[in-house]
Amino acid sequence: MSRCSPQCLQCLHRRTSDMSSDPSSFSCSSRCVTRHLNVTFHVDFDSHVIRAQVSLTVEALQDRLSVLTLDTRDLKIVSVSANGQAAVFSLGPKHSFKGAPLDITLPFDLSRGQHVIVEVTYETSPSAMALQWLTPAQTAGKKHPYLFSQCQAHHCRSIVPCQDSPSVKHTYYAQVSVPKDLVAVMSALRDGQEVDPQDNNRIIYRFRQPVAMPSYLIAIVVGDLESRVIGPRSRVWSEKEFVDKAASEFSETETMLVTAEDLAGPYVWGQYDILVLPPSFPYGGMENPCLTFATPTLLAGDKSLSNVIAHEISHSWTGNLVTNKTWEHFWLNEGHTVYLERMIGRRMKGEQFRQFKAMGGWKDLQDSVNTFGVNNPLTNLVPSLQDVDPDDAFSSVPYEKGFALLYYLEELMGGPEVFMGFVKSYIQLFAYSSVTTDEWKNYLFRYFKDKVDVLNQVDWNAWMFTPGMPPVKPQYDTTLADSCIALSQRWIKAIDLNSFTENDLKSMSSHQLIKFLSLLLQEDPLPLTHLKKMQEVYDLNVVLNAEIRFRWLRLCVRSKWEEAVPLALKMATEQGRMKFTRPLFREVFNFEKFSDEAVRVFLAHRAEMHSVTSGLVAKDLNVDSLKSTSL
Ligand code: BES
Ligand code: ZN
Repeated sequence: MSRCSPQCLQCLHRRTSDMSSDPSSFSCSSRCVTRHLNVTFHVDFDSHVIRAQVSLTVEALQDRLSVLTLDTRDLKIVSVSANGQAAVFSLGPKHSFKGAPLDITLPFDLSRGQHVIVEVTYETSPSAMALQWLTPAQTAGKKHPYLFSQCQAHHCRSIVPCQDSPSVKHTYYAQVSVPKDLVAVMSALRDGQEVDPQDNNRIIYRFRQPVAMPSYLIAIVVGDLESRVIGPRSRVWSEKEFVDKAASEFSETETMLVTAEDLAGPYVWGQYDILVLPPSFPYGGMENPCLTFATPTLLAGDKSLSNVIAHEISHSWTGNLVTNKTWEHFWLNEGHTVYLERMIGRRMKGEQFRQFKAMGGWKDLQDSVNTFGVNNPLTNLVPSLQDVDPDDAFSSVPYEKGFALLYYLEELMGGPEVFMGFVKSYIQLFAYSSVTTDEWKNYLFRYFKDKVDVLNQVDWNAWMFTPGMPPVKPQYDTTLADSCIALSQRWIKAIDLNSFTENDLKSMSSHQLIKFLSLLLQEDPLPLTHLKKMQEVYDLNVVLNAEIRFRWLRLCVRSKWEEAVPLALKMATEQGRMKFTRPLFREVFNFEKFSDEAVRVFLAHRAEMHSVTSGLVAKDLNVDSLKSTSL
């Protein structure tokens, strides 16, 4: 009998000596891999649990396989069978962020290449990390409850026992039973619906995902949803209150898809829909296949935040087709995706726009490096995540250090068209698989075999394994930034505040207004009199664009404008996108007079927040520090 468990010597050896083993998962993808999942979900809004059954089709990669380990977190396992025969199983000790390994002993041995169907009957916990259950009061319609999932990075195991590692890819089929007034959608193609034969007050929705994908891309939403067609392969979904606004905000979707296909190759996922979630959704966007999830904070009214959609569309190639093998190689997903996102921006709005966005990205990288600390190993492009919760490691670093590396290589190798040739070829070669940084780098050297001498001069160790800012600072074109820089300098140096008028902003786009405020945020706080004057002439308090409002309120709190504190806390709690909520809480917390107020407001809202968001804000504000530091 050979084992594949946390104690397995072979795995243990791999774990400590090979960066490609997955430190966030108990399952061991070198012994066996899941090829297909078939799930049935019964969604129970009364008890906030999903009663479920999953059949995993697992292939043995070695002879004499008789034990397999799945990842779980807070699941109640009812029974396990293998090819229809009852199987012995046990849940190991619970790890702080990995959950508990589910060890299953098969009643027979498998040889290499053989498949087994493992069926697990189980129930999720009301506090499942991947799920947020909203009461009717937390929805726009106020009538029906709502459920959404967020599995990336390592939370799928709290809704499905599985090999929850991005190194494993499988297709899936799902049947979801929900109350008949509600609609279910998933990260897959819709495959029909019927009245639940067990209960005619319920409907079963069916889904199929025929393209193999990692578990973190499994996604589900149940709510009072409507949809509108926005393109030949696209619909937008949301509660009816937002659906028309969302349809016009995301009207460029098909143009972006066509542009991305031209850059990166055919779109293989069939449908590309967008779902606008309730405000507590913790991210800007999430690239769930066939169904991007988006925060309602993108609904600016002027399409100015549509780069997030370009970003999620780009993941259809980098991330969903070519996937990071472990979360230590997350930059392969996000760095390439930001690169593609900005190439789409370049095609649609020109090279100066790409340069402008790239400059903003460099600033975001500086912010992250400052927040984490220049010597923090989590600012490495390729960090070690041994004993690190991937949610704690999340920052702009993989995005923007990754982009900066790719842009640096683009310049070295001969410009955007030449380098895009490499990216397209990398996508083709590694499509449907999961890769490490080494594999990426080896292919880079192979593709540019005539320029190996130039590639050898790159300081790879500094780029990948050294904390802090990259070794080379890019020189971006400042054409679109010049007016923002000039206006920010006028404010920084101003003695006579009467020279400012509302006309200062007249010819600025919202992108430029964001840039102007970002530049001020990088400086020492402005005197309060300046901020008050700025409000008087620009009236920024009324701006609803979330990216603008976020930066404006941070500036005000940083300059100790007391009246801005309730506005900042309101924004931090009325929406839950972590990019906004965490810095807003931190900003108020750092204003000594209001530290307690930040904690008080957080505690008052904690129960209705998404659990990943509330966990991270608690750490940011040193709430429960004992609980959150004990592993
Ligand atoms: N895949 C990420 C979101 C994510 C990352 C969720 C890690 C959980 C763990 C998504 O594609 C993303 O990067 N979203 C950004 C968009 C931005 C970079 C344009 C966001 O949420 O702001
Ligand atoms: Zn992304």
